[in-house]
Parts: sequence; C-alpha cells; structure tokens
Amino acid sequence: MFKKIFMITLLSFSLHSFSANAGDAEKGKKVFKKCAACHNVAAGAAHKTGPNLWGIIGAKAGVQDGYKYSDWLKGSGIEWNDEAMTAWVSKKKAKTAYFGKDVKKSKMIFAGLRKPDQITNLIAYLKTLK
Ligand code: HEC
Repeated sequence: MFKKIFMITLLSFSLHSFSANAGDAEKGKKVFKKCAACHNVAAGAAHKTGPNLWGIIGAKAGVQDGYKYSDWLKGSGIEWNDEAMTAWVSKKKAKTAYFGKDVKKSKMIFAGLRKPDQITNLIAYLKTLK
C-alpha cells in the first residue's frame, strides 16, 4: 500500500516537473497580457513604453534599435536566456538576488509574477517569437 502511494506520488511529481520544464506557449500567451501594455512582440512593430520583444530569448540586453534604454540595462551585459528572463519577471527579492541591487535603476516597473508555472509558460511563448 505504502509503496503504491509512493510510486503514484513519484509519477505525478515527475509528470508535473516535466510539463513545468517544457512550458505551455498557449498559456504563456495569456500571461503575456501582463506585459502587452508596454511591449509589442510582432517583428518590426514599434517600441512602446518598453522595447519590442520579438526574438528576445537569446538576445543581448539593451540592443534593440531605436529604443532608449536605461544606462543600467545597456551596460548590464545580460543575455536573455531562461535563467535571466525568469529572474527578470520574478518578484523583487528574486530579481535583486540575481541581478544585484542596482537592478532598481532599470526603467521597467513591473510587480513580478508569483507562480513558477506562469514564468515557464511565458518563456515558452517568448521562444515562439522568432
Ligand atoms: C509598465 C511597463 C512594463 C511592463 C508591464 C513590462 N515591461 Fe518590460 N520593459 C519596460 C521598460 C520601460 C523596459 C526598458 C528597461 C530599461 O531600459 O531599463 C523594459 C525592458 C524589458 C526587457 C529587456 C529588453 C531588452 O531589449 O533588453 C525585457 C526582456 C522585458 N522588459 C520583458 C518584459 C516581460 C516579459 C513583461 C511581462 C511579464 C514585461 N517586460 C512587462 C516596461 C514594461
């Protein structure tokens, strides 16, 4: 009995972490509504309050043409991989832990996403924009 429960727990845990790792781009598109007030994502679309995010995963930070970044972001040397993007859209504590306290000099004002699944799905969606 105990063994059976253990196996089921183990199985559902690994299934869960698998789907969390892969991310669901459709769900991520919905999460992106929180970003859409400030960011366009279509190729060649205008910058809004924030820069256009088409092709952002894998790109260097602060290099989109025609957008006036904060000095902090421009000089940050960040590359937008999964890890950096996760920290960027997280709550303040995790964001500061990853980028250092000077991250507050960035121009992006965003409260941060609370749920890890939301972030994984959002990144899966951003990866489709290329
Ligand atoms: C209230 C407006 C606002 C919201 C909401 C917002 N952003 Fe931003 N974002 C900005 C601004 C402004 C910048 C430029 C930051 C700077 O120059 O320091 C920025 C910069 C960025 C960058 C860096 C781009 C580059 O070229 O280096 C990324 C990535 C990003 N935002 C992702 C997101 C995501 C994902 C969301 C939603 C979870 C989001 N932002 C929500 C305003 C916003």
